[in-house]
Amino acid sequence: MRTQVVDHPLVTHKLTTLRDESTDSPTFRALTEELVALLAYEATRDVRVAPVQVQTPVAVADGVRLAAPKPLVVPILRAGLGMLDGFMRLLPTAEVGFLGMVRNEDTLEASTYAERLPEDLSGRQCYVLDPMLATGGTLAAAIRFLTNRGADHITAICLLAAPEGCERLAADLEGLDVPVTVVTAAMDEKLNEKGYIVPGLGDAGDRLYGVA
Ligand code: URA
Repeated sequence: MRTQVVDHPLVTHKLTTLRDESTDSPTFRALTEELVALLAYEATRDVRVAPVQVQTPVAVADGVRLAAPKPLVVPILRAGLGMLDGFMRLLPTAEVGFLGMVRNEDTLEASTYAERLPEDLSGRQCYVLDPMLATGGTLAAAIRFLTNRGADHITAICLLAAPEGCERLAADLEGLDVPVTVVTAAMDEKLNEKGYIVPGLGDAGDRLYGVA
């Protein structure tokens, strides 16, 4: 597993406002969209393309188009939904599938409560949207779900990650014969006893959707 922290002043600027507890939900949603678009730019560096030629008004030019099959974007419900529009700004022709996962707040283990994904993901590049890589349990379960269906290339986009979550994810995925990359805006300090990222930004879903 590879982890990439996107080190860019605009990313850190937007993330700082997301962290600020006085940022209201409409601003939080808008900034999440902008930040995810920036992360998506890095996360799609190895999106598969095929060579094409086009006729310009002057001459024939070599170029590329996205290769088939289309990349699949998978927001993890609920909070990952707030990242979808930002990602789709960069890859509007991607297919979207949904995975509903919930974390038991006592055991911190993840379980699947909903899924709307193609049965066969053979040869598909998948982009998983999950804002907070905290314990790593949800993301590990989501990645296993996708690779069990045949996905052969996984990139997870997270607003924030905790070192403990990255370590657990790497351990859970050991032996998996599929490249996995995590792209994040920051690697924070640690998790607290409730499994929240410190300093973090609080509960991403609550802040996106205005839950007090
Ligand atoms: N989920 C969140 O929304 N925030 C955290 O800090 C950890 C998990």
